[in-house]
Amino acid sequence: MKKLLLLLALVVIGATASAQNRHQRPSYKFDNVNVMVDTDGQRINCHGGGLLQRDSVIYWYGEQRPGFDSKMQKGVACYSTTDFKRWKNEGIVFEISDDPDSPIGKGCIIERPKVVYNPKTGKYVLWFHHELPGRGYEAAHAGVAVSDSPTGPFKLVRTARVNPGVWPMNMPVENRGKWTVESYNKVYGDLADPQDNKWWTDQFYADVNSGMFNDRDHEGGQMARDMTIFVDDDGKAYHIYSSEENLTLNIAELNDEYTDHTGKYITLAPAGHNEAPVIFKNKGKYWMVCSGCTGWAPNQARYMCADDILGEWTIMEGTPCIGDKAELTFMGQGTFAANIDGKLVFMADIWTPRCLADSRYLWLPILFDQNDIPVIPYVPQWN
Ligand code: GAL
Repeated sequence: MKKLLLLLALVVIGATASAQNRHQRPSYKFDNVNVMVDTDGQRINCHGGGLLQRDSVIYWYGEQRPGFDSKMQKGVACYSTTDFKRWKNEGIVFEISDDPDSPIGKGCIIERPKVVYNPKTGKYVLWFHHELPGRGYEAAHAGVAVSDSPTGPFKLVRTARVNPGVWPMNMPVENRGKWTVESYNKVYGDLADPQDNKWWTDQFYADVNSGMFNDRDHEGGQMARDMTIFVDDDGKAYHIYSSEENLTLNIAELNDEYTDHTGKYITLAPAGHNEAPVIFKNKGKYWMVCSGCTGWAPNQARYMCADDILGEWTIMEGTPCIGDKAELTFMGQGTFAANIDGKLVFMADIWTPRCLADSRYLWLPILFDQNDIPVIPYVPQWN
């Protein structure tokens, strides 16, 4: 039944897309089978990224990965296209610095870059997960950089934790300030390995739910790792990131310039261990698809929805993915939901940890069933 529905939906999407494309751009093909190359015949190196549409041009921003490890050697890559066939390499649009004292010096980590355009300032704003050189994943910063042009150069504005000294809007007053760093350390010591089952007691869940980590990071600001940016229909933008040792998602409102947080934020699914947030809107409802937390290894995508982005989120059962290896998100991990000419595309990375530069891409249609629930089918190649 599901398959039949999917087929029908695909036919509909194909027909609508081609009707639309007659006016807008030639029909384009997403190819999840062959290695994607640029117009110079080079393998595209643009991971954990997202797309930005500006008139007829689509910009694709992502991590330019060296072969050997997670650390950045160059910076954020950009490719552009008008037809989804020819991708022009626009070079490195946000370069890491040669200055050994710079927070974005060699050896830093930049992940999941997303670029949005701000119509009020006319600037392009880049947000990314940033780790300081030589400190592994401990800094858990959000970085922001701006540029006058979509192809850079982007200049660093700030790299920092998020919303220091601010409680989440949805944290009950009685939970605020319940934990101090000392009480946390006394009870838990260092949370050396969040996957280690010995921590996962009922008490642990209860403590996370009442804001243990939020409290610990209250003064210095909340951790920000895997992330995305979402611009709503009313022009308001939101930073969505894995916080609290990747246990809890936060959704934080951005200011009118999209360059800072306003202090309005919610915590979401505490102890849910959600990473790789991908968000989109359909018929007034917000949907978020996330991965679990297994590093570069694939796991089953999960999803949730809300009527108000800063309101209550409902966690859905199962996964929106259907098809072979759906239980492992087709071996991928989501990175972005692109809205191309009104059609939603789920973008994911198929990581190759021994050589991250060789990681592959998976671009799939986001469809909706008869109840308007999103479905992400595996389609090797599609129009
Ligand atoms: C993944 C995350 C990636 C990267 C990786 C490092 O879970 O989604 O963006 O941070 O861990 O191990």
